[in-house]
Amino acid sequence: MVISSLLKEYTVRRDDAIKLLAHMFGCSYHDLFFKTHVNVPLAIQPSVCNGLRRLASGEPVSKIIQKKEFYGIEFKTNKYTMDPRPETELIIDLVTKYYRSLDEHLTILDLGSGTGCIGLSLLTMYKNAVCSFVDIDANAIAVALENACNLDVSTRCEFILSDWFTNVSGIFDIITCNPPYVSTNFELDVATSFDPEIALFAGEEGMNAYITILPKMKNFLKRGGKAFIEVGFDQREKVANIEHGMKVVSINNDLNGIPRVITLCLFDSF
Ligand SMILES: C[S@@+](CC[C@H](N)C(=O)[O-])C[C@H]1O[C@@H](n2cnc3c(N)ncnc32)[C@H](O)[C@@H]1O
Repeated sequence: MVISSLLKEYTVRRDDAIKLLAHMFGCSYHDLFFKTHVNVPLAIQPSVCNGLRRLASGEPVSKIIQKKEFYGIEFKTNKYTMDPRPETELIIDLVTKYYRSLDEHLTILDLGSGTGCIGLSLLTMYKNAVCSFVDIDANAIAVALENACNLDVSTRCEFILSDWFTNVSGIFDIITCNPPYVSTNFELDVATSFDPEIALFAGEEGMNAYITILPKMKNFLKRGGKAFIEVGFDQREKVANIEHGMKVVSINNDLNGIPRVITLCLFDSF
């Protein structure tokens, strides 16, 4: 099969098609990148065509191959989990800016953990840290557990099936949270529509999760601890106006210059 003629048959981005084919052939992206011809064994031709058809329909390649990179780590993802987004990597940057010693025995709570990409990335860096992962969807928890096993950090993980803080006990050095924050009136692009609704939507103004979570957060934070909350592109003010009883440490922009992460701590923190 000639790659270029395959790609002409389906209207797909070459880059995505190569990722898909590399996954199906069990080789690396770079192995395929410069190839013009490949032999596609007869047995897998139908699944190759099916994959390309799904790509052409607008399904993200990550959903088809069920993996997505975040902070240089490959995470399993599927229809029950939101694909990790590059803007969320800012949370990892901020944690490492505020907690410089990688030996610290940190306790982390990853609220709305999905694939587990935030907490698991932190566990790969902070070798003495432990993390509790909270999600309302048992299928998402199963994906986070699988990712924890793949990264060999599962012994430092606790998985809690919970509606936000309901089943959570204890206090934490670090709370990370990327909650659903899309307005139910917002028209999604095709790619995002493959992510689960429960991971995206949070009422008419996209504020429901913040309104539930933020007033309770101070009860789960240690003195000296910090909470890192991702917000939508127009939500900084609205989130800051919620009565949360904590001090705003910083508001940081993502690479597109959009305010993306609010960092909070207790008022009596040092
Ligand atoms: C925007 S996704 C974030 C996933 C992951 N942390 C990330 O950054 O890629 C939000 C996650 O919150 C979970 N979630 C939604 N409502 C929840 C609730 N009431 N309690 C706990 N988790 C919830 C969803 O299942 C989803 O995994």
